[in-house]
Amino acid sequence: MVADPESATALGTAVLGQQPAAAAAGGGKGADVLQYIRQQQLERMMKRNAARLGGESKEHKFWDTQPVPKQGAEEEVVGNGPIEVKQVSDVRPDSYPLPAGFEWCNLDINSETEADEVYTLLWENYVEDDDHLFRFDYSKPFLRWALTPPGYSAALHVGVRSTKTNKLLGFISGVPATMRVSGDAVRTVEINFLCVHKKLRSKRLAPVLIKEVTRRVNLKDIWQAVYTAGVVLPTPVASCRYFHRNLNPKKLIEVGFSRLANRMTLARTMRLYKLPDATATALRPMQPADVPSAHKLVSEYLLRFKLHPLMDVHDFGHWLLPREGVVDSFVLTGEDNTVTDFCSFYHLPSTVIGNEKHRTLFAAYSFYNVATSMPLTALMRDALVLARDRGMDVFNALNLMENEQFLQDLLFGIGDGHLQYYLYNWRCAGMTPGETGLVLL
Ligand SMILES: CC(C)(COP(=O)(O)OP(=O)(O)OC[C@H]1O[C@@H](n2cnc3c(N)ncnc32)[C@H](O)[C@@H]1OP(=O)(O)O)[C@@H](O)C(=O)NCCC(=O)NCCS
Repeated sequence: MVADPESATALGTAVLGQQPAAAAAGGGKGADVLQYIRQQQLERMMKRNAARLGGESKEHKFWDTQPVPKQGAEEEVVGNGPIEVKQVSDVRPDSYPLPAGFEWCNLDINSETEADEVYTLLWENYVEDDDHLFRFDYSKPFLRWALTPPGYSAALHVGVRSTKTNKLLGFISGVPATMRVSGDAVRTVEINFLCVHKKLRSKRLAPVLIKEVTRRVNLKDIWQAVYTAGVVLPTPVASCRYFHRNLNPKKLIEVGFSRLANRMTLARTMRLYKLPDATATALRPMQPADVPSAHKLVSEYLLRFKLHPLMDVHDFGHWLLPREGVVDSFVLTGEDNTVTDFCSFYHLPSTVIGNEKHRTLFAAYSFYNVATSMPLTALMRDALVLARDRGMDVFNALNLMENEQFLQDLLFGIGDGHLQYYLYNWRCAGMTPGETGLVLL
């Protein structure tokens, strides 16, 4: 099946999506045609998203019982704070009951066998694009990194197994993180990797997983959570979009991630996306000795956003020190080895479903970036070169923080998926992508 160029999601995009820049590069009459195509594409995407968002007003049998802002309540928000206040003594001491045939377990991600089990569950059953062309393939080292920041607890790596076969059939995780939300420091967990085996979908297992991880988090006297999802639930605090920068046009076309735009040949497309052979600056991989200075630079930068993580230097080292095939961070240093510029991306490949030639799509995801000695666009052009040199086929970025500054100039194309940001049990006014300073994995 060929991907409809307008149906790109967080995983997929279209060459057509990259036409504003192509128009600028092409100029003249070609530019008018490209602009027209792009306009049409945007209108179709908006209609589709309007239809999706229309689902917002539907009943949510589970979410309507949870301490999250009610749909349509965005206008009425006055002040920030918890939606409900409870004590640890109010929390039920026992796990929620599971349907017959299932049992709870904790996953030890540091154990080779249990990490394999989580990896396999996600590899076979985790997020796919709407056309089922791609499925996220979080690597085992990535999962270990994502689940073991300072202060993590294996009790929050929650699994559901079959009592009969012991097979892992569901998963959800929480890791501790302090967030700054509109000026307040809030102890939260980041919830991620919610997954139910394909054969057990639509049986209301997801709400039980969410309730159980919430119970375990509450027992640790933590009452707030932050999470993202492609779907619209009650009620996003911010709604961001993915943009995609083609690094390997031939492969992206072959796997159905992109299509050749009208009037574009493969050769012309490859010329359009060609990057410099080497970086323009002396960016180099961040080392442990750079951490204090890089931490200061990034932490101070993040203060300009309404929602961002408050990382101490240990958190920062965990999340940002380079790990091969997992996360890359680069620094430029000035006098006294002070870090003046910082860029980073994480590696999240996707399985190309049912493609014999290409089994994996290699994607870099923009993480945290700060430029002070050069424009952000120049820093990110180098980040693209560094990602290409590490074998990435595409570089993805959300339109949050100050990313809008470089997306168009660097030929990113818009994807059609939104990424919704949510806070659990915290009331605050909604924010724009440009006010959002948080990237979750
Ligand atoms: C997401 C997933 C676990 C949901 O399970 P399911 O079997 O489809 O749905 P269930 O019948 O168990 O539960 C439905 C409830 O879960 C909610 N739900 C669905 N996806 C959700 C998500 N990503 N986050 C939070 N809640 C979600 C639904 O809104 C619904 O609640 P409601 O009636 O209040 O609206 C499952 O579809 C899955 O594993 N998908 C692939 C991986 C994935 O998309 N994970 C989420 C990444 S953000």
